Amino acid sequence: MSGPLVVLVGPMGVGKSTVGRLLAERLEVGFRDTDDDIVAAQGRAIADIFVEDGEAAFRALEKEAVAAALAQHDGVLALGGGAILDAGTRALLAGRRVVYLSMDVEEAVRRTGLNVARPLLAVNPRRQWRELMEARRHLYEEVATAVVPTDRRTPEEVTQATLDAL
Ligand code: S3P
Repeated sequence: MSGPLVVLVGPMGVGKSTVGRLLAERLEVGFRDTDDDIVAAQGRAIADIFVEDGEAAFRALEKEAVAAALAQHDGVLALGGGAILDAGTRALLAGRRVVYLSMDVEEAVRRTGLNVARPLLAVNPRRQWRELMEARRHLYEEVATAVVPTDRRTPEEVTQATLDAL
C-alpha cells in the first residue's frame, strides 16, 4: 500500500510532532502533521476553530486532512489526538504501519496541563485527560501495529524505541 512509511497516533501532548520530526530525520523522509495542515488551510489556530465553529466542524476538517495526507504523503505522518474517533479514518489506517505513542496521566498533565492551545484540557486537565483516554484508548489500540510508551523518556529515547518497533 502506498502512503506514509509510518503514522503516529496518540493523545495530545504525547510528542507526536517532536518524535515525528526526529523519526523523519533518522529515516531520511519528510514529516507531515495533520494539525499543521488544518491550520495552514484555515489560516486559524486549532483553538480558534474550536471556539468559532465548534468541535464537530473541526472533526470534519480533520477527517478530510487525514484522508488527503494518507493519500499524498510517503514519509512520517502525525495525526491529531482525536483523529481516530472517526470510523472512516480508522478504516483508512487498516493495513498501515501505525505507532501508538502512549503516556500515563501524570506525564500528560506535566506536558499539557492548562495549555489554552489544547481546548479539550483547559478546565480540569487531569480529569478531562482521564475521560478522554477512557473513551479513546481502545481506538488507539485498535489502529496501532505497535505501542511505544513515552513516560519519563526523552524524545530521542522515544524515537529510538519507535524505530526498534518498526
Ligand atoms: C485534539 C488534539 C490536538 C488537536 C485538537 C484536538 C484531540 O492535536 O487536533 O486540539 O481531540 O485530542 P494534538 O494531538 O496534535 O495535540
